[in-house]
Amino acid sequence: MSILFNEKTRTFHLCNDSVSYIMTVLESGQMAQLYFGKRIHHSEDFSHFLEFAFRPMTSYLFDDDYKYTLEHISQEYGVYGSTDFRDPAAEVTGKDGGRILDFQYQGYAIEKGKPSLPGLPATYTEDDSEAETLTLFLKDPVNGLALKLFYTIFSDGGIIARSAAFVNEGDDTLHLTRAMSLCMDLPDCDYEFVHFSGAWGRERHLKTRRLEQGIQSVGSVRGHSSHNHNPFVILKRTDATEFQGEAIGFSLIYSGNFLAQAEVSTHNETRLLLGIHPHWFDWKLAPDQSFQTPEAVMVYSDKGLNHMSQTFHRLYQMRLARGYWKDKARPILINNWEATYFDFTEERLVNIATKAMACGVELFVLDDGWFGGRRHEKAGLGDWIANPELLPDGITGLAQKIEDIGMKFGLWFEPEMVNKDSDLYRKHPDWILKTPERSASHGRFQYVLDFSRKEVVDCIYEMMAKILGEAKVSYVKWDMNRSITECYSAALPADRQGEVFHRYILGVYDLYERLTSRFPQVLFESCASGGARFDPGLLYYAPQGWTSDDSDAVERLKIQYGTSYCYPVSCMGSHVSVTPNHQVYRNTPLHTRANVAYFGTFGYELDLNKLTEEEQEEVKAQISFMKQYRRLFQFGTFYRLKSPFDGDGTTSWMVVSEDKKEAIVGVYKVLNGANMPFTRISLKGLDPGICYELSSDRRGHYGDELMNAGLITTDSSVGEMAMGNIPTCDFDSRLFILKAIN
Ligand code: DGJ
Repeated sequence: MSILFNEKTRTFHLCNDSVSYIMTVLESGQMAQLYFGKRIHHSEDFSHFLEFAFRPMTSYLFDDDYKYTLEHISQEYGVYGSTDFRDPAAEVTGKDGGRILDFQYQGYAIEKGKPSLPGLPATYTEDDSEAETLTLFLKDPVNGLALKLFYTIFSDGGIIARSAAFVNEGDDTLHLTRAMSLCMDLPDCDYEFVHFSGAWGRERHLKTRRLEQGIQSVGSVRGHSSHNHNPFVILKRTDATEFQGEAIGFSLIYSGNFLAQAEVSTHNETRLLLGIHPHWFDWKLAPDQSFQTPEAVMVYSDKGLNHMSQTFHRLYQMRLARGYWKDKARPILINNWEATYFDFTEERLVNIATKAMACGVELFVLDDGWFGGRRHEKAGLGDWIANPELLPDGITGLAQKIEDIGMKFGLWFEPEMVNKDSDLYRKHPDWILKTPERSASHGRFQYVLDFSRKEVVDCIYEMMAKILGEAKVSYVKWDMNRSITECYSAALPADRQGEVFHRYILGVYDLYERLTSRFPQVLFESCASGGARFDPGLLYYAPQGWTSDDSDAVERLKIQYGTSYCYPVSCMGSHVSVTPNHQVYRNTPLHTRANVAYFGTFGYELDLNKLTEEEQEEVKAQISFMKQYRRLFQFGTFYRLKSPFDGDGTTSWMVVSEDKKEAIVGVYKVLNGANMPFTRISLKGLDPGICYELSSDRRGHYGDELMNAGLITTDSSVGEMAMGNIPTCDFDSRLFILKAIN
């Protein structure tokens, strides 16, 4: 890995074994993008990538010049208003109302490692040899706005992390109304735009559309990254597949409003923008004040989508998630939410825990309803004190009882919210986000606390820290169950209201930072009505997140498959729940529910007392199986093999251990059929020369056979005699375990 700079041509080349990222200073002073893709040889001069032409109806920067039009030059951080007409990376309004920006190159710095971003989550290095960072210094000569562009190249993988920082070095106050984390101009448009969209209960479904001239985008203006879209998109070549071809993943390490946009010009150049959504964003920059954007990560792969995903998985597991739990196998938990909802007593909770303990579960999680006057959705949020009628010995007492049974104890909070029927709201009605003289809309009868205010965050911190400090709490589920409306902070002046959405998220990060550093051994799981804030920003603080409220095994195939494009298995909260399922009322076999949930953090969301004895035995076997293989599931290399979004209704994925001596393949089908074809799946990532014992036939098969001829997955839907006449059914599934034979 190196960052090379040629003084003469003023060209930067960031490269490692996988990628090259090349840019240059234009004669006109702006930074131009020359190349991003597979590693190419270094050259003293890449200026031939800059092509110029005289075109009618084009504007040029200099008198007597028909070269310098920014419209047809790939920009590092494009701005609108002079000669570039594409959507810009930044926008600003000056004192006189002028909006022109011109970021002129001033110089650069190269440092080993990677500096952190104050107050923001970001990837990091543990050793300076893991990465190098280039900072480009630019400045607008008229309004004095300085811009720093940060580029970190990691030693391994096609990863470039980027962000931008603005400092007002001028004399007048400026308003920054757009500040993207990344602007990436690519020379052609032969790409598909892949994004992950959905809604509550069906998050991160894979969507693919061909890039066309014009703008396509996804984003969120809900105050959180949202169920609807994820701050992750891919540009893939139209012929790229899971296992071959070029793809670039763009991921924003941020949990608030975001925009991911691809614009194709009518000359077929593509501009990808990623960052905070400019809608309602207006950051006042008085002289000497600065603004740092969130970080965006680009991963280039020339070996298809799986390779791109695996690069994200390793980076986010090891150099985004932090702390004690980031690389530890996760405890198998039981959560009482779907078992009881609000209808519980301490005795009932202890009963659930006792049975779970007997089955081998390690952690009991008490969900919503334990605090203040919270016996239903209309009261209690904000009062983080145990309800003495429910828990006579408080959280401390219950946690001790659970520990005495032999399990760890976990607790649910929804720190950012308040019900009007709460002591906190009665004391501080002005602490919610609400526009003056307008009504405040509710979501689930709750209102959003103004986390842009330090005193609000301090108050919630004190309440939570008291409980975590006094009681034996090993795990926290941090929930967030509504979008932000009527966004306005009573504590900020009129000309700073455009800052509230971002300041809110900074407040959330601040609370996470304080709690995770004071309680480093506590495992945090993020949640937002399931997966409404399943983003890399929260992964920095909470190494796992509740993937979706939809715990139906069939629904989860799409949700977890889609999620896997960016996020590792170790961060996907996945539980076995009852049938009929509470979200879709489907009956799926117990083994299929577990076979899906194993590819995640694994746990149960039900009362095991209510299962038959036979089912309880099955659960015990599942738990002991997961204990044996959880490291492999959660930290092995994950491959998507067959997509639930297309094909014949079969889904398949697999994990392979780092030494390639063990692997587990999951095969899932939706509907059963009669007289069906024989089936095989080509496995991936095995060692061709290793002979593996296969759990389905107890015979040895070489890796090359399994990867080329394929694994036989035929089941009894083909007719009699297959699979030893074991009948198969709708929603059936199988795991195949492969172990190297010594
Ligand atoms: C939404 C979460 O996603 C659920 O798991 C549960 O914690 C409820 N909130 C509790 O209100």
